[in-house]
Amino acid sequence: MTTRPEFFPEQLAEVRRLQALYPNPRGALLPVLHLAQETFGHISLETEEYVARLFDLSPAHVHEVVTFYTLFFQRPKGRHVIAVCHNLSCHLAGAQEILGHLRDRLGIEVGETTEDGRVTLQAVECLCACELAPMMQVDDRYEGNLTPAKVDRLLGALP
Ligand code: FES
Repeated sequence: MTTRPEFFPEQLAEVRRLQALYPNPRGALLPVLHLAQETFGHISLETEEYVARLFDLSPAHVHEVVTFYTLFFQRPKGRHVIAVCHNLSCHLAGAQEILGHLRDRLGIEVGETTEDGRVTLQAVECLCACELAPMMQVDDRYEGNLTPAKVDRLLGALP
């Protein structure tokens, strides 16, 4: 049985405060989705429905937003998130090799989490450090000029 997602009263007050900041309250959808992810760990379909009700939107509209942004997780994420840029500069500099190496090392596909819950692997758009391509983000750190050997060192250093 799953528990229905529901904000605490003080979080609902924050939702109303955020909505009041915008001429159209729907402008607060992204920060409220971030609040939901912080609170519930990820954005499930039930959470999408709950947030949709708070904004008088359709669940399909919220789902489109959640699936558009890689910062929202639809399933529980790992303790670490590795996000490899696969945009043009990184693609030309070998991002596919880096992604393939990570898939092999972790034994998962992009969008999946290792069975032990240690790492979630993502492919993302430009990380705005193209001069260091190929690039990836490991939690809140940016790592560039990647090679398979450097990726191995970074993986080995993860707690
Ligand atoms: S294309 Fe990868 S960081 Fe810009």
